[in-house]
This record gives sequence, structure tokens and C-alpha cells, in this order.
Amino acid sequence: MAKIKERAKVVLIPGDGIGPEITEAVLEVLDAAGANIEWVRHEAGLAALEHGADVLPQETIEAIEHHRVALKGPCTTPVGEGFASVNVQLRKQFDLYAAVRPVRSLPGVTTRFENVDLIIIRENTEGLYSGVENEVVPGVVMSMKVATEKGVLRIAHWAFRFATQRQRNRITVFHKANIMKMTDGLFLRASDQVHKREYPNIEYETAIIDAGCMRLVQDPGQFDILLLENLYGDVVSDLCAGLVGGLGVVPGANFGEDTAVFEAVHGSAPDIAGRNAANPLALLMSSVMMLNHMAEQTPAYADIAERIRLAYDQALLDGQKTRDLGGDLTTDAFARAVIERL
Ligand code: NAI
Repeated sequence: MAKIKERAKVVLIPGDGIGPEITEAVLEVLDAAGANIEWVRHEAGLAALEHGADVLPQETIEAIEHHRVALKGPCTTPVGEGFASVNVQLRKQFDLYAAVRPVRSLPGVTTRFENVDLIIIRENTEGLYSGVENEVVPGVVMSMKVATEKGVLRIAHWAFRFATQRQRNRITVFHKANIMKMTDGLFLRASDQVHKREYPNIEYETAIIDAGCMRLVQDPGQFDILLLENLYGDVVSDLCAGLVGGLGVVPGANFGEDTAVFEAVHGSAPDIAGRNAANPLALLMSSVMMLNHMAEQTPAYADIAERIRLAYDQALLDGQKTRDLGGDLTTDAFARAVIERL
């Protein structure tokens, strides 16, 4: 099997919960496929805290600054209290403003729909994730939704450029600008403007998010690229995962100007952690996105990415599935099934 000759260095953050298990499975597949990557391991999240470090240690930040590409397992965030999300901190630290989440029907995975092939583009740094929350007076709290002209314009440009490069021809913006006339209004006007002035040949439509969600669950095949602000992108990503088999099969990438962090849409799944039961496919698919990104510098990575993609599609077609997809394979057994088909 062909191997990449020059070793690339990539930062690896195994993460919490199921993170370490699915990461090991993914590394085995990449290694067997000849990706020849030197993994620069660093911690973040609970794993870092447990070793007496900060939740997002300085060494982890410096390593990503240096290598500019990272593969990341999910990190746990306490609900309703405790430290701020490491995932959100990382996105802010490196200004990873564009999250890309391809959602497609998979061979051998039976769901209500067979024709889903859409890409979610989520603004990743603004909106209600600004982290500005405070108690106005006792019993009254508020959370600030932030949109900046710079932020909304750059994600709109990013989405239209991406659509052009990928030969995708339709963008739908979900918004709630009827209610949030300023913040969502700004987001909507920026998308309208970029479309009209620079990309009039790309089909473009807008939908109020509630009606958009109804259309998604009735007929997801009508959508191509969905462009959403931060919170809507988060929620709609999981909704779309449900259309194609669940959180175990939807990958993701977070892009900034010069840094990219690849991670699955799902979280650390504490309910199944430590049982060798998680589906490593979403992180494996994220690693395929990473290889395609690395192929912009070293084209041979694209062949390895394609080989892995064909192998996991074939594994699914052959009925090799983890429990979330109705099969009985463990995390590492699924990785072996993919390796056998490389
Ligand atoms: P979750 O995505 O971890 O789990 C939701 C459900 O999906 C659970 O039943 C889980 O078992 C299942 N699931 C998720 N991934 C799976 C996989 N690969 N294979 C099989 N089943 C899978 O969401 P939840 O429970 O709301 O969050 C758990 C923790 O993860 C929280 O602390 C949350 O903040 C964090 N989180 C981290 C993210 C990240 O690191 N990017 C993203 C989302 C949540």
C-alpha cells in the first residue's frame, strides 16, 4: 500500500468520555491506510484538569499555533455551572469562524430518507456563544447575542466561496430575523448582499428557522448548503444527524484563516464511555476531511482520504456496524472492519 513519504505533524487531542476510545480506533485506520502522520498529543477538557493543568492548557494552544492542524475528540462541558466550554474557547482562541458539517445518507444505513446530501455551515464565534451572561438584578439573568458586521460578512463570503469551490449550487439561510431584527437581521442582510453582489449564479433562499426545520424533517433532499448563525447551526446539526443515522455518523471541521481543527459533531457521550461501544465513524470521517485539507499542501493525502472513505462505505454495506446503527460491533472491531477493506 502506498505511503506518504514525508511525515506531517498533527496535534491530537483525544478529549473526554468516548474521546480516547474513538481516537485510538481512528489512528489505527489512518496508520493502516499509510497516512504516516506524527501525532503531537496534547490534552484539553476534563483530561487536562485531572492532570492538574488548565482546562485549555497553554502547551495545547502553542502546539496548535505551531502545527495549524488538529484532530480533536469531544470535550465534556459541565451543564449549568463550572468552566466554560473548551470547544468554544478553542474556536475563539484560533478564530475558527467557519464550522462545516457534511450530512449524507450512508450506504447500508437505513433511515427514513435515502437522499440526504447537505452541508451545514455554522458561524462559530458569535451569537449567543459570546459568553456574555450576567445577573441584571436578583432573579433576572441575561445572555447577550452578539453579531458583528465583520463576523456576518466573513461567514457569508466563506459559505459562497465554499459552495463555488465544491460545485454546490444552492444556499439556504435559516434565521429568525422576524423576531431578532438586529442580530439575525444583520446576518440575513450580509448573506443577501454577498449573494446579490458577488455570487448571483448560486441559487439562494432564506427561511425562518422554525419553518425551515419542518421542511428539513419532511424532505431533507431539497437542501444543499445550509448557512446558520452559531446556536442554530449547533441545534440543526444534531437534527440533521438524526436524519442519516445519528450522531455517530456526522463529521465536522472548524476553519479559521490559517488553522483548522477537525472534530465530530457529537459530544463525549458519558452514557457509553469506557465500554468500547461508541461509533468511531464520525471522527474517522472528520479525519478524512482533515486529510483532504492537508492535500491542499500534499496532494497524496487525497488518495488516502478516498481509500478510507471507500473502505468505511464498504464496511457499512457489508453490514459491519456499531450498536448505534443497529449492529453489534465494538469500537475497535469496526475499525478493524474498515482496515480489512482498505
Ligand atoms: P453527546 O453527543 O455526547 O451524546 C448524545 C447521545 O448520542 C448519547 O446518547 C450518546 O451515547 C450518543 N452518541 C454520541 N456520540 C456517539 C457515538 N460516536 N457513537 C454512539 N453513540 C453516540 O451529547 P450530550 O450527552 O448532550 O453531551 C455530553 C457532553 O459532551 C457534554 O459535556 C457536552 O457539553 C459535550 N459536547 C462536546 C462537544 C464537542 O466536544 N465538540 C459537542 C457536543 C457536546
